Amino acid sequence: MKVLLISALLGFVSHVRSKTGNTSHLYLLNLTESCCVCVLRSDSNICISAKAKTCGECIQIGPQCAWCKDPVSYFVYKGFKPSRCDDRDSLEKAWCSPHGIENPRGTVTIDKNKPVTNRKIDGGQNLITQIQPQKLTLNLRSGESQKFTLKFKRAEDYPIDLYFLMDLSDSMQTNLENVKNLGTELARAMQNTTKDLRIGFGSFLEKPFIPVMPTYVKNPCFPNNCTAPFSYINVLNLTDDSALFIQEVSKQKTSRNLNSSEAGFQAIMQAAVCTEVIGWRNVTRLLVFSTDAGFHLPGDGKLGGIVRPNVGKCHLENNMYTMSNYFDYPTISQLVDTLSDNNIQTIFAVTQQFRDLYQELSALIPKSAVGTLSTNPSSVIQLIIDAYNSLSSEVILENSRLPEGVSISYISHCKNGVSKKGENGRKCSNISIGDEVMFDIEITAKGCPSKGKSETIKIKPLGFTEEVEIILNFICECECHKDGFPNSPVCSGGNGTLECGVCRCNEGWLGRLCECSQDEVLTEDLDANCRMDNKMDICSNNGECVCGTCECKKRDNPEERYSGKFCECDNFNCDRSNNKLCGGHGRCECRKCICDANYAGSACDCPLDTSTCLASNKQICNGRGICECGVCKCTDSKFQGPTCEICPTCPGVCTKNKDCVQCRAFGTGDKKDTCEKECSYFNLITKKKKEELPEPNDQPYINHCKERDANDRWFFFTYATKSDSTIEVHVAEELGKWKMK
Ligand SMILES: *[C@@H]1O[C@H](CO)[C@@H](O)[C@H](O)[C@H]1NC(C)=O
Ligand SMILES: *[C@@H]1O[C@H](CO)[C@@H](O)[C@H](O)[C@H]1NC(C)=O
Ligand SMILES: *[C@@H]1O[C@H](CO)[C@@H](O)[C@H](O)[C@H]1NC(C)=O
Ligand SMILES: *[C@@H]1O[C@H](CO)[C@@H](O)[C@H](O)[C@H]1NC(C)=O
Ligand SMILES: *[C@@H]1O[C@H](CO)[C@@H](O)[C@H](O)[C@H]1NC(C)=O
Ligand SMILES: *[C@@H]1O[C@H](CO)[C@@H](O)[C@H](O)[C@H]1NC(C)=O
Ligand SMILES: *[C@@H]1O[C@H](CO)[C@@H](O)[C@H](O)[C@H]1NC(C)=O
Ligand SMILES: *[C@@H]1O[C@H](CO)[C@@H](O)[C@H](O)[C@H]1NC(C)=O
Ligand SMILES: *[C@@H]1O[C@H](CO)[C@@H](O)[C@H](O)[C@H]1NC(C)=O
Repeated sequence: MKVLLISALLGFVSHVRSKTGNTSHLYLLNLTESCCVCVLRSDSNICISAKAKTCGECIQIGPQCAWCKDPVSYFVYKGFKPSRCDDRDSLEKAWCSPHGIENPRGTVTIDKNKPVTNRKIDGGQNLITQIQPQKLTLNLRSGESQKFTLKFKRAEDYPIDLYFLMDLSDSMQTNLENVKNLGTELARAMQNTTKDLRIGFGSFLEKPFIPVMPTYVKNPCFPNNCTAPFSYINVLNLTDDSALFIQEVSKQKTSRNLNSSEAGFQAIMQAAVCTEVIGWRNVTRLLVFSTDAGFHLPGDGKLGGIVRPNVGKCHLENNMYTMSNYFDYPTISQLVDTLSDNNIQTIFAVTQQFRDLYQELSALIPKSAVGTLSTNPSSVIQLIIDAYNSLSSEVILENSRLPEGVSISYISHCKNGVSKKGENGRKCSNISIGDEVMFDIEITAKGCPSKGKSETIKIKPLGFTEEVEIILNFICECECHKDGFPNSPVCSGGNGTLECGVCRCNEGWLGRLCECSQDEVLTEDLDANCRMDNKMDICSNNGECVCGTCECKKRDNPEERYSGKFCECDNFNCDRSNNKLCGGHGRCECRKCICDANYAGSACDCPLDTSTCLASNKQICNGRGICECGVCKCTDSKFQGPTCEICPTCPGVCTKNKDCVQCRAFGTGDKKDTCEKECSYFNLITKKKKEELPEPNDQPYINHCKERDANDRWFFFTYATKSDSTIEVHVAEELGKWKMK
């Protein structure tokens, strides 16, 4: 540590590489304390390793990161820069003054907090409040969640709007009778729930699929009278006048267009979206859908040549749906969205036969219930009350679409004291009038969503019109951002704003001090220009990155140089041979030897010249090997010697020819009688002394022989095959002086 400390003081060390390969930064900053505060920081700290260039970037890395805006020039040694972005404690310990630290935190402010009420006071549904608070403002710092609690209380006497939508096909005749008294009876039955009940009525049939005679279209029950076919009629707007309800419903007649009418979904869509016409209030909205048939889905309209998708807009003219033969049936998801957007809770009152079908459908539609129609007149009333109780005893919180990068989570604290998380965290069931439940809500932003613009989201209990408005402000910048000093001389004489202790460069300038002109660099990320790839060090650790260009280090020996775009090359790190760089037969370029013409090999240690391999017969390695780096490598393992000329193990050429040589040269030996016949296969040349015999270099494949004659005296000859295949034998006339033992 002491060594590092001193080197840092001298300005030579900017970072040290630990044994683990982690780069660590050395902070050595409190000089007043005679240089003894020294902190080693590791790159595994995300605040440092993310290399934030501005305070804004730093605080977005995570809630643990803070920024130091103190001027730093005092501390900066040659090549040694402390990270301004670090965790708060480290910054403070290392070098930052307490008010130099920028570390904005998120907040929750409650803007509107009307207490929940028990019951309606003196009319006016606005006086009922079921959810609290109603409006909040959240300041969100990246990664730091903000929490608040919503309270929901089911109020007494909460107003209800109920719209009865009925299938008027002929088979529904009995049911129509039963519905007529709904107005009075329902009001009576529900008086303990609410005294403010309004009720409306609509009817539907089928799309006009059957193109028939005009008379039939006007009166399908011809010659009897009945209503002309239609797809949806709004018969009665929502009203508290039960006498009017009886009067209007009594006028209704069933139609004989089709036995079963299945165009109900387009009628639901109209009843839901035509808010103004039907007169929906912002209270509990119930839609009772009564039928004895199934339903059509998109695509079914093709039967009638209708292919345009349903657009979900209100198309009522004189209370009649006008677009029935123009738009196809709506999809179930369209239906779900429309009902939810309009806070409408649906009760399917269907015949036993279709109960299962609608039960499946209901599972897809939040806040919907299914009841069975029977011929008993009071069954409709009971069905509605049961469905209403089951619907309104459940609270499900739903939020509007969240901006990208924002997440939300719910924890519910329901009546029984149980807390639930996840999807169930949005929900509480079995809530009676007067019950109170709580939801803990946590909202987290990641980074700087919506480019820092404020966003508004809404949370509401499904099926209720009350909602909570939440304004989200994103903390993308530090306070010091506002105090920037534009065109500061510190930033290359006015090419940037000095802000939070660093330069924010003006358009066209880059670099730590805005010293680089954008025209001269390829990308905004200057350091990236100085790296061969992400994994490599800047300028291969052999130079400095100046405005996106590497300036390579100098060596003490001026002959030794770094080079290359990323200082990745040098001319002194090549293979050596005989202790010489490139064996003295080449030059070192980018750590590779470039060999002189006649040399090869990683250290130029391999001469390409084959003259040393040339045998006396002018063949390379006597034709028995290849010349590698000037040395013969014999391919025939029998042979050895510099040109593969020696064959110590070859069976004796000498012994084989000894008798013939003896008889022809000396007229002696085993073959002296058959000499002429057997021994004419070579040319004989006699020499006086054995020293005059040819040397090995003189001829190819020359064998030097030393054999015994009949008198046990040595005689010497050479045996050679010439290139023209003739055999030449040289014999020394002089015999060995000594007898063999
Ligand atoms: C760097 O340090 C961290 C913790 O200090 C460690 O988990 C990690 O393995 C280290 N990295 C390497 C490459 O050794
Ligand atoms: C340096 O150390 C002294 C003594 O501990 C302390 O009073 C001073 O605030 C420190 N300065 C900085 C910049 O941390
Ligand atoms: C309404 O409440 C009163 C008193 O609590 C009770 O007597 C009456 O039967 C209730 N009415 C209905 C329709 O439930
Ligand atoms: C059908 O209605 C017309 C006029 O509304 C009436 O004149 C006619 O008598 C009615 N026919 C039957 C069979 O009820
Ligand atoms: C309607 O259909 C049912 C069964 O398909 C049939 O029993 C009934 O008579 C039909 N009613 C009319 C009015 O056509
Ligand atoms: C319902 O109200 C709207 C507008 O207030 C009106 O245009 C429409 O005719 C009314 N419908 C009925 C059936 O009374
Ligand atoms: C009902 O609420 C909607 C929005 O939720 C609002 O636009 C409308 O004005 C409200 N209507 C009444 C009558 O308060
Ligand atoms: C609903 O709550 C009541 C008391 O408020 C309780 O008696 C009943 O068992 C609860 N039902 C369910 C299904 O939890
Ligand atoms: C920006 O920097 C360049 C080079 O450092 C300098 O020549 C120029 O005057 C500066 N621009 C301003 C507006 O100061």
